[in-house]
Amino acid sequence: MKISRRSFSCGLLGAGVLVGAMPSAEKGSVRIAHLCDPQFGFVSGRESMKWRAVEHFNENYAEDIARCEKAIERINALSPDLLLFGGDMVQNVDDIEKEWPRILKKVHVPWMITPGNHDMGNRVTAANLGRFRRMFGRDHDARDIKGWRIIAGNSQFWHPTELKEDRVAYELWVESELEKAKKYGGRVILATHIPPFAFSADENDSYDNCPTSLRMKKLEAYVSAGARFMLTAHQHRLAVRGYKTLSIFGAEALCGNFDLRPCGFRVLDVNPDFSYSWNFIKV
Ligand SMILES: [Fe+2]
Repeated sequence: MKISRRSFSCGLLGAGVLVGAMPSAEKGSVRIAHLCDPQFGFVSGRESMKWRAVEHFNENYAEDIARCEKAIERINALSPDLLLFGGDMVQNVDDIEKEWPRILKKVHVPWMITPGNHDMGNRVTAANLGRFRRMFGRDHDARDIKGWRIIAGNSQFWHPTELKEDRVAYELWVESELEKAKKYGGRVILATHIPPFAFSADENDSYDNCPTSLRMKKLEAYVSAGARFMLTAHQHRLAVRGYKTLSIFGAEALCGNFDLRPCGFRVLDVNPDFSYSWNFIKV
């Protein structure tokens, strides 16, 4: 099934019919399920999401876990080449070790992860980084999948931290990975929790973007490395953006969305000629 070069769907596809509706995998095509912000017990202060107030924490927490387990079941059935966890695995960081050892055992496909601010802290701390690595193995990683280079970063290192050496080591790793990625002829997919920008590349610093002191340098480095896709989370809203030849896809959160989009995850199917589909799956 040929898919249009720049098409994506926001349709609420039911899991029952979804597998048959997906394009069949071509040689060198890659399928990535992107599950963002499961964030068990997500709390919001916004009026539009008042059911997410702190007094409903426990009921939301239980619902979020059940929804996450259901999403993982569906992802296992879709058999993607990769499940990419978009980060913010919990609302309160101590709950990582309480829940994720059990839940992670339910994942039966290869997976990678981009840590979120709720996992690392807005400024990365040693305790949070250590906890995350004990639980998930790596906070940044790169992998070759069917001829595509997938680079999953830790966007919390965009901000200064007491872990100066880790931050420097991380940036050197990013540089060397982007250098290696140049050999992939554009078959490069980047991922971070926080997007480089929320709305436009020239916006001011905020909770939802890469600081302006780094942003343009990073965007230019991504483009120079030939990266064509970047998958991001964090915003709890659908956010389709782009910079030059780089498409930046911000997916809905699994726990609750500020734009009142339903909860779910995304599946990116991308072919060697860069045609793709990016489907939403409601959970
Ligand atoms: Fe989040």
